[in-house]
This record gives sequence, C-alpha cells and structure tokens, in this order.
Amino acid sequence: MSTAKTSAAPSRLNEVFDDLISTLRAFIRKHHITHDEYRRAVALLTEAGKREGEVSLLMDVFLEATVDQVDWAGRDGTESTVEGPFYVPEAPAMKTPCVLPHRANEPGDVLIFSGAVRSPDGSALGGAIVDIWHADAEGAYSHFNIPKTQAPYNLRARVTTDDRGRFEIQTWVTAPYQIPKAGPTGALLAALGRHAWRPAHIHVKLSHEGFETLTTQIFLKNSPWLDSDVVGAVKPSLIAGLEKHEDPADMRKRGLERRHFTVAYDFILPTLVKAAS
Ligand code: BEZ
Ligand code: FE
Repeated sequence: MSTAKTSAAPSRLNEVFDDLISTLRAFIRKHHITHDEYRRAVALLTEAGKREGEVSLLMDVFLEATVDQVDWAGRDGTESTVEGPFYVPEAPAMKTPCVLPHRANEPGDVLIFSGAVRSPDGSALGGAIVDIWHADAEGAYSHFNIPKTQAPYNLRARVTTDDRGRFEIQTWVTAPYQIPKAGPTGALLAALGRHAWRPAHIHVKLSHEGFETLTTQIFLKNSPWLDSDVVGAVKPSLIAGLEKHEDPADMRKRGLERRHFTVAYDFILPTLVKAAS
C-alpha cells in the first residue's frame, strides 16, 4: 500500500514506523484478527490512557526487557536491565555512607548495600552517583502504591561515591511484589493466565562524567520469582546474596541494635559510546 508522503527523504521515523505498520498488518492477516478483537484492543489502550502510569506499566511489562537487550548489546561493564515505571528523578542527594529516607517505623530488616563503582579498566570512580530506589518490605514503592503510606522519596536517594569509588547505603530489605493489577495490564495478565510477580530487587542508575549511565537492578538471591519474573528482566550476573548478621558484636560494629543483612555488589560503568557525527 502506498503512503501519503510530503517530503522525499525517509527519516529513521519513516523507516521504523512504516515497518511497524506493515508488521502489524501482517500480524492481523496471519491471526485473522476480527473487528471485535480490534475494538477490544482499542478499548484496552483507551482505558490504559485514562489511568495514570498505566501506559508505561503496560509497555514496560511486555516490551522494555527486549529494548534493553537490543539497545545494550555489545557494551562493556555491568549488565543493564529495565528501568521500569517507578523511577522518580531528583531524589535527595546524599554522600556515602548514608541512610535512605525512611519512616520512623520502617517495616522489615535493615539492609546495608555496599560496593564500588569502577571504570572498565578498573579505576575507582569517585564522585559517581548511585541513584537508588526500591520497594519497601511489603513490596510497595513510594510515590506509586495506593494507599500512599510512604512519604515522597521514601527509600530513594542519589548517593555520591567516596574518592575510592565506594558506597555504603543503609536501607531496608525489599520484597517480591506484584505489579499493579487493577488496570488493563493486570486484566491482560489474568486473561493470559500469567502471574504478576517480580522477584525482590534494588534499582540503580549509576552515572559519572565520561561514561555511559548504567540502569540496572540487583536481584536478591533465593527470592521467589527469579525464574519467572513477569517482566523477564532477571540476568544471572545481577543476582547477589544477602548475608545475615545476628552476632551482637557484629551488630555493635555497625551501631545497630538488631539483626541486619548485607549485600555487596561492584559495578563497572560502560565505556561512552560516541554519537555518530
Ligand atoms: C519494576 O522493576 O519495578 C518494573 C519494571 C517493569 C515493569 C513493571 C515494574
Ligand atoms: Fe521494581
């Protein structure tokens, strides 16, 4: 089918969009999509558009892991994975060591997340920013989960590494959670007979001048759903084990009065990919 063109030079948008439309038309023919099915798809997208955050949720659940695989193929450094729909920019700036913003009665066990940020040649990246966010011990994110029981930026911060590239962040052990199910994304998963669970994970976005910004997640070893993440974003190199500390001497060393957990992970930022001139 010819298209109504107003300019001669095909841009990347023309190429990609034309291919998307022909792929969708071929898909409609292949599966003999009925008019009723077409209208139901339109209704699902219309409903998603009416709900705050739902379009991002729908796209991120079904497509973001593939975009990550394609866009990050061939890069060096720590493996990336999806950002997801729950990132909030401009979290409070903190210097390592620090305690993330939290409630007076923050539920669950204390977790100390530590490590280093390095370049591919192994040099320490002092002054790198570790932008961290994760769900609480009940699987809820500040800013998103309803009812909103967490203050803005709870369990979120942008932490600067020390001059040896290290960070030590006190937070609370996060939990597996189900992505929000009340809207069309949840309805679609239910209709497909799929669960909505993600394994326990900590999101980070790491940046330093002269390197690519790395968006990734650290998955907690032994968490349920590591093998069947609804988003398909787990990579074995990103799984890290929790260590439990119950020895009173161990607790005193950290100035803590109760048992706590630690998780350590060292990150390597990818070499900057120069934009084509
Ligand atoms: C998340 O990691 O929070 C997430 C990622 C993609 C879709 C939904 C949630
Ligand atoms: Fe998440």
